[in-house]
Amino acid sequence: MNANIGISEKDKKAVAAILNVILADEQILYNKTRNYHWSYEGSNFMEMHKFYEGQYSELEEMIDEIAERIRMIGHFPEGRLKDYLRVTSLQEQDYTTSQEEQLKNLLEDHESIIINMRKVADTIDTVHKDAGSADFVTGLMQHHEKMAWMIRSYLK
Ligand SMILES: [Fe+2]
Repeated sequence: MNANIGISEKDKKAVAAILNVILADEQILYNKTRNYHWSYEGSNFMEMHKFYEGQYSELEEMIDEIAERIRMIGHFPEGRLKDYLRVTSLQEQDYTTSQEEQLKNLLEDHESIIINMRKVADTIDTVHKDAGSADFVTGLMQHHEKMAWMIRSYLK
């Protein structure tokens, strides 16, 4: 059934496409963070193991909210790994057990997601007239800003 919420079909479709790219980016970042939770080696193993767990748990909740937001505007979330890889703007690196390399890879992804979200939140609001989704993306961006700060705090 059509979502009659005061946004044109064309705009809802455009916003859903933007949210599906965000969903794909989050899925890649979630997977990378979870892999580092398993594959870290160092004298502070338990700290990093738990740190990564806290971060991927937050991403997991965000992923669920993004997929449900796409349904709220009458569209369907991508649900196949090959679709995430097709639309994501993030790269997957070689495996690493190094703290510095892992954190730098994650920080680069968070910062790239933040930059993208800042841009698309404005487009969703001003071009597509979807205040709810614009506010939602701004909220996600704030989560990433906090997560990025925590990662950055381990690096010099
Ligand atoms: Fe675990």
